[in-house]
Amino acid sequence: MAVILGIESSCDETSAAVCRDGEILSNVIANQDVHKEWGGVVPELASRAHQQNIIPVVDNALKQAKVNKSELTTIAFTRGPGLLGPLLVGTSFAKSFAFGLNIPIIEVNHMQAHVLAHFIDEPKPQLPFLCLTVSGGHTQIVLVKDQLDMEVIGETTDDAAGEAFDKSAKILGLGYPGGPMIDKHAQLGDKNTFQFPEPNISGLDFSFSGLKTAILNFINNNVRKDDDFIKNNMNNICASIQNRIVTILMNKLEIASEQTNINEIAIAGGVSANSGLRKGLEEYGLKNNWNTYIPIFEYCTDNAAMIAIVGYFKFLKEDFANQDIETLARYPL
Ligand code: KG4
Ligand code: ZN
Repeated sequence: MAVILGIESSCDETSAAVCRDGEILSNVIANQDVHKEWGGVVPELASRAHQQNIIPVVDNALKQAKVNKSELTTIAFTRGPGLLGPLLVGTSFAKSFAFGLNIPIIEVNHMQAHVLAHFIDEPKPQLPFLCLTVSGGHTQIVLVKDQLDMEVIGETTDDAAGEAFDKSAKILGLGYPGGPMIDKHAQLGDKNTFQFPEPNISGLDFSFSGLKTAILNFINNNVRKDDDFIKNNMNNICASIQNRIVTILMNKLEIASEQTNINEIAIAGGVSANSGLRKGLEEYGLKNNWNTYIPIFEYCTDNAAMIAIVGYFKFLKEDFANQDIETLARYPL
């Protein structure tokens, strides 16, 4: 029997989840509103908020799962990648709690966890599959050979897709995080109104920094002519930006599918909550005969259920970590 407590604290969500033999019994997430007024995540404030949230969040996760701490067999925690201060809070808590309970710990790569979010609920992708992992810090196409054996076959050379959304939102004067705001406006606009360039980058890698500059220039040029340009065109601008980001992602995924001959295609990470990307995946799926997979919203953005699931697969392999393990702000897959 494996009763695993998962802990996630890599960025601005404090989360704890309980998983019994691969089944998620609870997944509690505390968001941090403190960053909104700063227009982005402030690491120091995030660390402090994690410190305040971690015990109530874990307590709630145990209560909701109706599991007593004495029943836990293992604690899995995010080792990286992420912000060092926030990671240290989760890691230190996980180690101390496990030490007190005299149970082993399992370290988890946050990006691997986004991929394995697909193994929480049905339908689960067939191995091998391709997973486009798109978050605030990463954009990767991952070839998943096995739950614990995956290879990055394409990734961004500059900004992540989430950053492209967030930076575009900042240019438009929308709040943080900008991705959901762009999505909201985009749903009311026409995606073919404005044309933004597709980056000229070969192979399976991505680039989003040129798009950001193109958007900035486009907005500045138009605002110079018309003060109210953004206000009067917000929905169409957002729809056009979103459409370009989605087609960049989908076109690369299409090449990856052709190259690997794999038609089990999944998306994961915070940006996979985007309605345009979800629709785009369905459309490309129909066109290319893919079986497509998108986690439920709760498992797209940062959460501890995905950490607990990785913990479960590692538990089956008895892949435990030592108490002296360190956090890693950079932690390649
Ligand atoms: O995976 P995640 O929660 O945290 C990281 O590990 O980075 O991803 C956060 C990113 C942010 O950039 C946020 O703007 C983006 O996901 N995001 C969205 C949407 N929801 C979250 N981007 C576009 N549309 C959305 N609906
Ligand atoms: Zn994430």
